[in-house]
Amino acid sequence: MRRWEHAWLTGATGGLGKSIAYQLAREKRVRQLTLLSHTPGEAERTAKDLAYRYGIQTRVISFNAEKPRVKALRDAARKDMPSLVILTHGIMPPEDLLDPRLAERICRVNTLSMITLTSILTKEGFKGDLVFVSSVAALRAKQRNALYGMSKAALTHYAEAVRQYGRQHGVHVLEVRPGILKTRMSEHVSVPLKEPPQRAARHILTALDKRKHVLYTPGWWYYTMLILRSLPARVYDRMKL
Ligand SMILES: NC(=O)c1ccc[n+]([C@@H]2O[C@H](COP(=O)([O-])OP(=O)(O)OC[C@H]3O[C@@H](n4cnc5c(N)ncnc54)[C@H](OP(=O)(O)O)[C@@H]3O)[C@@H](O)[C@H]2O)c1
Repeated sequence: MRRWEHAWLTGATGGLGKSIAYQLAREKRVRQLTLLSHTPGEAERTAKDLAYRYGIQTRVISFNAEKPRVKALRDAARKDMPSLVILTHGIMPPEDLLDPRLAERICRVNTLSMITLTSILTKEGFKGDLVFVSSVAALRAKQRNALYGMSKAALTHYAEAVRQYGRQHGVHVLEVRPGILKTRMSEHVSVPLKEPPQRAARHILTALDKRKHVLYTPGWWYYTMLILRSLPARVYDRMKL
């Protein structure tokens, strides 16, 4: 089981992020955990609870993915550089395919903020494991969540390139492609096969142990997406997914 001295985690007030935070702490995989959150009150409560229950050091940095404060983040990285960074924050609001403002907001949170954080960290000399949480929605478009899928497709593309960059710079990239998680984000999606976030968190930490580059969680999504990606447009476009 791998361990890290200090980790940064975004989205720790959300279903997946919180599960990862508790698993990291419970298994004593980190000595220090910094939560980056735009709702500091809730993140502070989680940080205190983690410190109390598991005896790890925790702290919270204010982070709004729509408007990241570059200087504050750079200073925090300079002062105490993590060796594990897990970026789980994200939004999937009700969509209108023809709304450019909404497209901009979704891309700011789901994609551009990831680039900002990656840029700050690598320029400050980050070495270690960097985890991007994308989605199977990145791999083939659907009208009902086109903007979300587009933002994740861009993230998947970016993660692949950072992985190549990282090979020469001591950065290992894991890109996670969850299917549908049982969290607040997908409350309105009525499908029977939602994955509990605790299980996805376990898969992510095991993938880090194995130094994997890409993780589908659950694993059968790999085969599902292989089939969906191979379908011709005239068939795929008519499918109700
Ligand atoms: N749920 C699914 O079915 C599913 C499927 C595939 C991929 N994913 C991806 O998995 C990741 C985790 O999602 P989840 O299911 O855990 O969703 P969630 O429970 O809704 O959590 C989302 C997290 O993102 C944070 N966040 C949202 N806007 C932010 C902003 N402007 N600045 C900083 N943080 C912000 C939220 O903070 P607040 O709570 O404070 O707003 C929350 O902690 C996301 O990247 C999502 O796209 C989810």
